[in-house]
This record gives sequence, C-alpha cells and structure tokens, in this order.
Amino acid sequence: MAPQKKASLLIKNIGQLVTMVGPVPRLGKAMSDIGLIEDGGVAAAGEEILAVGKSDEVQGHVELAEGCTVIDAGGQVVTPGLIDPHTHPVFARTREKEFEMRLQGKTYMEIAEAGGGIRSSVRDLRAATHVELKANTKKRLDTMLKHGITTIEAKSGYGLSTESEVKTLEVIREMDMIHPIDLVPTFLGAHEVPDEYRDRREAYVDLVINEMIPAVTKDKLAEFSDIFCEEGVFDIDQSRRIQQAAKSAGLTLKFHADELASTGGAELAAELGAISADHLVYISDTGIRAMAKAGTVAVLLPGTTFSLAGKQYAPARRMIEAGVTVALSTDCNPGSSFTESLAMIVTLAALQMKLTAAEALSAVTVNSAVAINRQDSIGQLAVGKLADIVIWDMKDYRELPYHYGVNLVTQVIKRGKLVVGKRS
Ligand code: NIG
Ligand code: FE
Repeated sequence: MAPQKKASLLIKNIGQLVTMVGPVPRLGKAMSDIGLIEDGGVAAAGEEILAVGKSDEVQGHVELAEGCTVIDAGGQVVTPGLIDPHTHPVFARTREKEFEMRLQGKTYMEIAEAGGGIRSSVRDLRAATHVELKANTKKRLDTMLKHGITTIEAKSGYGLSTESEVKTLEVIREMDMIHPIDLVPTFLGAHEVPDEYRDRREAYVDLVINEMIPAVTKDKLAEFSDIFCEEGVFDIDQSRRIQQAAKSAGLTLKFHADELASTGGAELAAELGAISADHLVYISDTGIRAMAKAGTVAVLLPGTTFSLAGKQYAPARRMIEAGVTVALSTDCNPGSSFTESLAMIVTLAALQMKLTAAEALSAVTVNSAVAINRQDSIGQLAVGKLADIVIWDMKDYRELPYHYGVNLVTQVIKRGKLVVGKRS
C-alpha cells in the first residue's frame, strides 16, 4: 500500500544500503549483521524515513512531493549517519606543544601532573567568552559533519568551576540549536581537580556534589554525568560519591574508566547502572563480566591509544565474546585524541582490535545510539527513524576501514535535509 505522506527526499540506485535494521543493541555474532540491501533506495518525508527497500520498490511506492530532493547514488554505499558517543568538543585552544613533549618522551600523566593537560585547557576555557567558544566548537562540528557524523555526545569538563561548567553546557545547548549535528549534553565537572583545589581535593568533590550538580540539573543543561575515574584523578570512593549524587539528581551515568591503569572503574560503572563505561584499555575480566551482566555499553576509543602512542588497545574481541555491547568513538579532545573522523577510528578498530568492517559499523551506529540513549530515533535506516544518512564514495562497505586517511563522504543528510554535498 502506498504511504500517505509524500517524499521530500529520495535516494535511489544505492549499490549497498547498510540499514542496520536488526537487534538493538548488536551483541556478539549479531554485530556482523548490518541489514544490507543491494540496489537499495530510501525515501524521507520531512525529518523521518518514509520507505526503505530495493530502489525500484521504493520508487514505485512513494509519491514525490513538489521540490523533492532526488539523489542518484550511482551504485555507492549508503549508511545511517554516524553517531559519536564520546566527545569533548568545547575547548578554547589546541595543545600541539604537549603532543611534541610526548614525542620527546614525557607521558600524558607527567604533563598533567606538571600543570599541563586538562588543567591547561581549563585555564584557556575560563578566559574564553561564549562567542569564542561557539566559534571554536562550530569549526569542529563542521568537520565532524563533513566526515559523516550526524549526532554526538558532548561533554563539559574544561571549566571545573560552577560558572565555567554552566558556560560550557550553555555553549553545547546553543550549538545543538544552531548546528545540523544533534548534541547530547554530558556534565563532566569531575574531569580533573582544578589548580585552586590541588591541596584540598575532597573540597572539590564536595563542590561538584553540592553546587555543580544542582546547577546543571536545575535548567536541564545535562542528560549524563561523567567522571575521570583513574589513578591520580578521582579514585573509586570519590567516583562513587559523585556519581551517586548525580544519579539521585536524575542524571544518567557515564565513566572514563580503566584508561591508564586497572582501577575497578568498569565494575563501579556496572554496579551503579551506568549507561556506558568508556576507554577500558586495562579492564579486568571481572569488569568485562560485570558490564555484560549490567548491559553497560563499552565505548572504545582507539584514537586515544593511537595518539598517546600506547602499545595496548582495549580488549574489544574479549568484550564482544563476553556479550558486552561495544561502541566506538573519536574521544575528540585537544589532549589525548584530536580527530573528528570516526572512519579513522574504524580503521584503528580493525587493525588494532580486529573488528571487521561490519562489526565496526554496528559500533558507530546502533550501539553508539544505545550508549547515548537515542536508539529509538537514530542508528538505523528504518521507517519512522530520523533521516540521518551518509552517502560514501565506496562500492563496498568493507572499504571503510581499508581506504584510510581520506574522507570518503560525498553527501550527508541530517533530519531529511541535504547538509553536505550536492544533489547528483
Ligand atoms: O578522554 N581521559 C580524560 N579525558 C580525555 C582527555 C582530555 C584532555 O587531555 O584534554 C580523554 O582522553
Ligand atoms: Fe574522553
């Protein structure tokens, strides 16, 4: 039966249409199922998908509205818009000097302990105006969009005072309103202990709990609460206190866990019912089992290991075998991973974590959607979901990890509108 609504967008002649239709989340062997349709087509009405199937069938079923955008994909690959579930996009200045210091032998933690790292970004962000931060953030978002990312989770965490954390979350809210990319806000007041609290760290924990969490929840500036749970930053007890307070205030929990050492962060995330635990390079076997049981998503960030020139990557295969939901993200930030390319992350996941192209695609679409609680609207090309769509200069989806270091995106559609590239 013909759909009632008329199509405002039609993409026809798709060589491989990766719909990702199937179980949500994708676990274990199901990660290899990408809902592939050869010679596919997809139509949207306004922001939503109206029809998906074989190109001929879709064209035969939908009626085109006046002025409908018609794109001939010319046999290329089409996927859902990529979802980046862990980013730190609001910062005032880049930190290339630290990158060079690391090349000369200093470690990330040594730089941090000497007052650089996150704390130097905090000094920069506090001095920056809303207008400056918006301009800087926009630049990053524009690059992400050109690389096929249509939704991100965006963290605060370079303010570390109530005022500057609120300022950051306001910038995230404003960018969500004016930029095609959808931004999902996370409060990360516990990203580091700022300069003025170095000798009274518990007082900073109290400030996060008693002042910052109430301030960011009052105006619903954040949906998630994250913490850098790591040796030398926030220990397990402090992390538990902060995240319990955040949960009581209605925030959903996320963790930076077991990134540089095994501290039991994954176990704590599972125990507190976190939606995700991220990094997990040094996760223990107990942590893996706990996350699988709790349904906590593992957001893996191989760009961070790569950019810090680490030798060990998160044990993705063991997690997949244990039934953990695995997602992938850029961790875009000025310190440990400065990239806006999820395709690059897919290449690293393939080479360093042995994920296939299909598994990695599951990890940057459906499973990323689950990591930010957006599985009802994005991550799959299915009727009624948002028309967030990427057209790639590839004939076979397996080129994605293989053809690296260049941007293969030709067109991006966000909420049914062509926002990158041209009609063909
Ligand atoms: O995810 N690990 C903590 N936070 C970021 C790094 C932030 C920075 O260095 O500015 C991360 O790697
Ligand atoms: Fe991070």
